[in-house]
Amino acid sequence: MTLLLEGKSALVTGGASGIGRATAVALSREGARVLVQDRAEAGAQETVGLINAAGGQAVSIGGDVTNESDVQAMVAMAVASFGRLDVAFNNAGISPAAANSALQRTHELSLTAWQKLIDVNLTGVFLCMKHQIPHMLAGGGGAIVNTASVAGLVGLPTAAAYVAGKHGVIGLTKTAAMEYAREGIRVNAVCPGYVLTPMTQDGVARRGEELLNKVPMHRLGRPEEIAEAVVWMSCERASFVTGSFYTVDGGYYAA
Ligand SMILES: NC(=O)c1ccc[n+]([C@@H]2O[C@H](COP(=O)([O-])OP(=O)(O)OC[C@H]3O[C@@H](n4cnc5c(N)ncnc54)[C@H](O)[C@@H]3O)[C@@H](O)[C@H]2O)c1
Repeated sequence: MTLLLEGKSALVTGGASGIGRATAVALSREGARVLVQDRAEAGAQETVGLINAAGGQAVSIGGDVTNESDVQAMVAMAVASFGRLDVAFNNAGISPAAANSALQRTHELSLTAWQKLIDVNLTGVFLCMKHQIPHMLAGGGGAIVNTASVAGLVGLPTAAAYVAGKHGVIGLTKTAAMEYAREGIRVNAVCPGYVLTPMTQDGVARRGEELLNKVPMHRLGRPEEIAEAVVWMSCERASFVTGSFYTVDGGYYAA
């Protein structure tokens, strides 16, 4: 059986953990060679270890997606390692808690917390696309998937900067999709609902039942369930799909 991404070169940001790690592993399972990026470099190396142990081919790099020279170095390494860039999963992100702004309403949010969340969750995605697209244009096309969230589609009290950033990711995704549609680059977004990862562990421990009650399936998602949607959007089976966003959320957005 032919693999979905045989011979492709892929890049995953935030690949040390959670959804990024699961997706790096899934892209490799489908035949892609994968550059795993994360500011937590040791974790990125662990993901590479998982992929290589399963017979795949991966390399890692550290760096911060909000730092343009780190992003340039990441893209350059993918191209140097694998000769081209076909698939990019721009996924690195942080929660309100990581910006010390958990449970704060809009008027309580500091400018520092706002800027931190927007920098990582929105500007980081812009910088990645800015430096990935020239290589995809040179290579005759590609597929970009950005991680938004159901928070990119609905409001969530006490998460103003996270919600604004994720809505922004969907806007960026739609715009880039239109700009490059005739040059073979497809750009889509995945909108996970509540998924059990290190990012959500604390919130789930504190508010588990309250969160589950918002999900028609009444369970949390697994990172691997998000990865399957990303693999599909990245491969030729999604050849007519661009500018779209897909919820993978156990029914949350429909409810
Ligand atoms: N877990 C959920 O319920 C959920 C729901 C919707 C959307 N998301 C989004 O999915 C993405 C992945 O989240 P996750 O749940 O797997 O979390 P996670 O914390 O397990 O993984 C995020 C990874 O991103 C990395 N990272 C953070 N800031 C970075 C930066 N500036 N530069 C490089 N790497 C950076 C972290 O080191 C971490 O390894 C995020 O964009 C998040 O907003 C998660």
